Amino acid sequence: MKNKHSVGILGATGMVGQRYIQLLEDHPWFEITWLAASDRSSGKAYSEAAKWRLDTPLPERIAKMVVSPAEPERAPKIIFASVNAAIAREMEPKFAAAGCAVISNSSAFRMAPNVPLVLAEVNADHLQMIEEQPWRKESGGFIVTNSNCSAMGLVLALKPIEERFGIEQIFVTTMQAVSGAGYPGVASMDILDNVIPFIASEEEKMEAETLKLLGKLEGRSVTPLNAKITAHCNRVPVVDGHTECVSVKLGNKLRREVRREDILAAWAEFKPLAGLELPFAPEQPIAWREENDRPQPRLDRNRGKGMTVTVGRLRPCHVLDWKFVLLSHNTVRGAAGATILNAEMLASLGKLEPAAVAATARA
Ligand SMILES: NC(=O)c1ccc[n+]([C@@H]2O[C@H](COP(=O)([O-])OP(=O)(O)OC[C@H]3O[C@@H](n4cnc5c(N)ncnc54)[C@H](OP(=O)(O)O)[C@@H]3O)[C@@H](O)[C@H]2O)c1
Repeated sequence: MKNKHSVGILGATGMVGQRYIQLLEDHPWFEITWLAASDRSSGKAYSEAAKWRLDTPLPERIAKMVVSPAEPERAPKIIFASVNAAIAREMEPKFAAAGCAVISNSSAFRMAPNVPLVLAEVNADHLQMIEEQPWRKESGGFIVTNSNCSAMGLVLALKPIEERFGIEQIFVTTMQAVSGAGYPGVASMDILDNVIPFIASEEEKMEAETLKLLGKLEGRSVTPLNAKITAHCNRVPVVDGHTECVSVKLGNKLRREVRREDILAAWAEFKPLAGLELPFAPEQPIAWREENDRPQPRLDRNRGKGMTVTVGRLRPCHVLDWKFVLLSHNTVRGAAGATILNAEMLASLGKLEPAAVAATARA
């Protein structure tokens, strides 16, 4: 790509916003030219507005950039949005109406019937739904979302199983990192030496979004996967990386004949983006660990630069059919990294070209 796409980050000072800055530093296709956050931050140099929490240095160019007001007027046409749902509900449509491609992390529009909820390896075909959005028809702008951070790891691990053997029931228990709650997130007095068995709305989001992601685009809308799912979500004293214990009942009539090696093969052979040359697509989206004490957040979360989901402990389940453990990095694969991959997919489909945007708006 000769000229890089100019991109903006809405919510640039937060946990996910900081990940964007880290992950996009040397991105071959995208260059950050605009940073926005709340009125508390706007007008300040980024280094003054944000409390940098990541373990790589804040890039100097970004440190000096001035945080803009969260308004579309001077924003570039590609926006990575990472603000909370109540703010996103009000702001994201304004940016889409102004002709921006809004690639969002928030839950505000994930379940809207005309908004694609996309995990690039799983359901990139759902991106077509942007053509039905009113903003697309009027200004060329649109909204694409990615899922809740715990649904993301789950869906990636389930997709190859669902494709080959079908799935009828899913039972999942999460152990979610504190960075999933943003910064400063859960008070240290609440989470140290503790487990909190409640994350507001998380179980509902995880259940609904998993079925939409694994659903089929039929006509203009998605028919969710016809499966039963139940989720238990817990906050644990881990900084980054969500761990999930999963049991599944397979849907195929031959489910009793599915062997452990068949599931391992489905995971190992799952490489749907191979050949597309998307810079953020990990070579191995799902990686298997044979040791019986893996995956673990500290040891496995950065695999594939944080974009690989690690699975382990696959064994028969005496209630459903099979059970296993997965681990995924919540602010990379579960947030900023996944949206960057969605943006790369949109770029490869020609949906981020200004000329294509204008032509669509005129048509
Ligand atoms: N953390 C995760 O693992 C994760 C994973 C998946 C999805 N998400 C979703 O991503 C979004 C951001 O999460 P986060 O963890 O990054 O939250 P966060 O750390 O609390 O950051 C929130 C960001 O929103 C900005 N903001 C607040 N009010 C605003 C306003 N009125 N106008 C414009 N910007 C405003 C904040 O700016 P100031 O600094 O100026 O206040 C900050 O940049 C949420 O919807 C969350 O559910 C998070």
